[in-house]
Amino acid sequence: MDVELRGITKRFGPVVANDNVNLVIRGGEVLGLLGENGAGKSTMMNMLSGLYTPDEGEILIDGKPVKFDGPGDGIEAGIGMVHQHFMLVPVFTVAENVVLGVEPTGRLGHLDLKKARAQVEEINQKYGLHVPADALIENLPVGIQQRVEILKVLFREADVLILDEPTAVLTPQEVEEFFGIVNGLKEAGKAIVFITHKLHEILAISDRISVLRQGRITGEGDPKTLDEEKLAEMMVGRHVSFTVDKTPAQPGSEMLRLEKVTLLDDKDDRLIDDVSFTVRSGEIVGIAGVQGNGQTELVEVITGLARGNAGRITFAGDDITHTSVRDRHRRGMAHIPEDRHRMGMVDKFTIAENMVLNSYYDEAYAAPLGSIDWNRVNETAAAFCVDFDVRTPSVFLPGGSLSGGNQQKMVVARELERQTQLVVASQPTRGVDVGSIEYIHKRLVESRDEGDGVLIVSSELDEIMGLSDRILVMFEGRIVAEFDNTGGKADRNQVGLAMAGATEGEAA
Ligand SMILES: Nc1ncnc2c1ncn2[C@@H]1O[C@H](COP(=O)(O)OP(=O)(O)OP(=O)(O)O)[C@@H](O)[C@H]1O
Ligand SMILES: [Mg+2]
Repeated sequence: MDVELRGITKRFGPVVANDNVNLVIRGGEVLGLLGENGAGKSTMMNMLSGLYTPDEGEILIDGKPVKFDGPGDGIEAGIGMVHQHFMLVPVFTVAENVVLGVEPTGRLGHLDLKKARAQVEEINQKYGLHVPADALIENLPVGIQQRVEILKVLFREADVLILDEPTAVLTPQEVEEFFGIVNGLKEAGKAIVFITHKLHEILAISDRISVLRQGRITGEGDPKTLDEEKLAEMMVGRHVSFTVDKTPAQPGSEMLRLEKVTLLDDKDDRLIDDVSFTVRSGEIVGIAGVQGNGQTELVEVITGLARGNAGRITFAGDDITHTSVRDRHRRGMAHIPEDRHRMGMVDKFTIAENMVLNSYYDEAYAAPLGSIDWNRVNETAAAFCVDFDVRTPSVFLPGGSLSGGNQQKMVVARELERQTQLVVASQPTRGVDVGSIEYIHKRLVESRDEGDGVLIVSSELDEIMGLSDRILVMFEGRIVAEFDNTGGKADRNQVGLAMAGATEGEAA
């Protein structure tokens, strides 16, 4: 099946999200879609899948114009979208999730789960998805949940699959497997649209690449003749540096100390197992590890979102083991959370409000009679947006109206613009385009050079290797290896081995 977008324009108030876009998507082909944060990728795909209606232009399927009044129409026409944020019900099984909304029914109109399971199995087999049909979603790793989303679309017999940043939360191993599945779908004749900010991925998986800039298609290319640098330049219109520019660290006093910190889950399993380390002022410590090895919980314990079961945490010499999130924040701890939606922002609040979400009570914003100086807030928020290139026509729009990557930049801006002593940054550049990654990395190094302690948690090994002065590897809740990375001297393979659980002796 071939799909064509012809002269598509979409506006949100003064923002032209898509401007006269022409694009062809062919069966048996992977089209890579690339573009800066806010370029209009998701908007375009939301129109293709029927979620949004174009203001101008038309969509043609096999040459015939179609009109969609909702995602139901899109799927009816064979177009399915896997959104960046999973939309699964955690307490349902895989099969229940897959059939949700289109349940096969038995003779008396009741849900025929047996039939559903059989159908799920069939698709599973056909495309080599290897998803356990009876498992509960909440017990599955994200890599498998991702496949459930694909199963869901295939169950609805989609011929065009739109994958909006499907690899953002996958481990390198899961990405490999995922690419195998995508290639299988392509061979079966499906048309795939693949959106990502990871340039090596788009080069590896696409047959064709289209670049979107400020709502327009500004470039098209053949992955065989393009490289990452050219792609980056096509995207942002300037040269982008992929290496982090920094001088050797000059570690000063101790900012953060963890001593034998342990956190148990409700079954008494050790999520964090006897972890001790320090972060000094003037250094960046990176925690490497495959997602799900306790990094999330470690950050929660450090920032006060969770209470450890044993151990001690000190911040600039003071015991904070039992203090609140707000207390730690007041002492100068910044926190960029890994999940911006759940922890970092309020969709319905304006961008200005989001920018002061945890500082509106500060002296700087105080007005007479205990109220807030909103002029001051708005000016500050606007300045933050300029610094971090948060693309929006106004700070009075809801935070949720920003594109995914711009939401991330908003959260990062809020945390890094504040006076701090310790920055705890979890997946700081998730969903962010290459140009903005360069800037966020530069700002993290600046925080370090101004004397902050910086702790980075990232599942991107490149990010850890590029930013960190010292690398700690976390595996099954423990710190299993430590590497000095002064001048980038840590051995990438050794770090990788430790991440995969090689013992300390083997890794060091
Ligand atoms: N529902 C909405 N209301 C208002 N503006 C919107 C809405 N959805 C998108 N926009 C605006 O349209 C533009 C394009 O956004 P879109 O989400 O398509 O970008 P994107 O290319 O997917 O970016 P990212 O890489 O960050 O995900 C942005 O300026 C965004 O703020
Ligand atoms: Mg998007």
